[in-house]
Amino acid sequence: MKNIILTGDRPTGRLHIGHYVGSLKERVRLQNEGNYDEMFIMIADSQALTDNFGTPKKVRNNVIEVLLDYLSVGLTPDKTTFFIQSGVNALPEITTYYMNLVTLPRLMRNPTVKNEIKMRGFDEESKGIPVGFANYPISQAADITAFKANIIPVGDDQLPMIEQTREIVKSFNNLYKEVLIMPKAFLPNNEICKRLPGTDGKEKMSKSIGNCIFLTDTKEEVYKKVMSMYTDPTHIRIEDKGHLEGNIVFTYLDAFCQNEHFKKYWPEYNNLDELKKHYTTGGLGDSKIKKFLYEILEEELAPIRERRKKYEKNLDEVYNILMEGTNKANLFANETLKDIKEAIGIDYNNKFLKEIKEKYES
Ligand code: TRP
Repeated sequence: MKNIILTGDRPTGRLHIGHYVGSLKERVRLQNEGNYDEMFIMIADSQALTDNFGTPKKVRNNVIEVLLDYLSVGLTPDKTTFFIQSGVNALPEITTYYMNLVTLPRLMRNPTVKNEIKMRGFDEESKGIPVGFANYPISQAADITAFKANIIPVGDDQLPMIEQTREIVKSFNNLYKEVLIMPKAFLPNNEICKRLPGTDGKEKMSKSIGNCIFLTDTKEEVYKKVMSMYTDPTHIRIEDKGHLEGNIVFTYLDAFCQNEHFKKYWPEYNNLDELKKHYTTGGLGDSKIKKFLYEILEEELAPIRERRKKYEKNLDEVYNILMEGTNKANLFANETLKDIKEAIGIDYNNKFLKEIKEKYES
């Protein structure tokens, strides 16, 4: 069996370091390990429209931003195929066939969808749930299966979509013919990386709350954001015992810090455990730790910023990467669409003609 990796993001804003540790870094690792036959990364503009239909400009403006973010973290077109969802016509067609295999109550049971309905206010009487929005998990199943992808690197909020996809694959293969590949979610193994909290200690980084560190932030912006991070409100004087729980600086260190960082920036300690011990027994100020975290983040972000600058000067190239990737994506998805139509029996080809003739001749 082939190993085909597929994942994607909605282009609704620039990517931040939560996306970075939660998925981008893992994608770069997968890409560079090279244990796959194809790797696809999709910019999910059609899906983004399902809850941004009133602000299509926002989606349009972020397509190249997100692609630049991908390229700047080290994903490269020679190893990864980048494409735009709306440029692959087979996807909505495949979605249509899958819609028959899922009930409305099943769609509404999806915990991520439920949560988004609340967040978007679609549960308010004056608004209501757009059909396109409720349907997006089915369209995501089309995204995944159209490429016969078996490895789907995602954050844990996407698990219900993979589950829905698996159910569709099972139903389809049972009902028609074994043509769809069963996908599997691939989560980052560091728990903290699955959902990095915002710099204010809120549950999730969110552009609208303004608690994110973006991959495009300047050195100065990163410094400012780190220095104003939420720590431990009871840790007032240096002598006070510090607490780690809910202390975002330590959460970020858990996500980013490696022993080598101590050697390089803070040789007083050998590892994070030693630093934590000192902090919790008292005598260690927040700002020293914040500066250390800043060094670590900068080490990661500086090369990303450099690469981005280079690509920003070559927008023709960036645009071509997307167009060529989309052409290739179409070849794959059209092939699967053909298999799907044949499996259902809505392929009206020579075999079909022969069948009718036989019927009439007998
Ligand atoms: N739902 C994903 C998100 O919100 C984006 C997405 C669309 C996706 N299609 C996908 C992710 C297929 C993985 C596989 O980020």
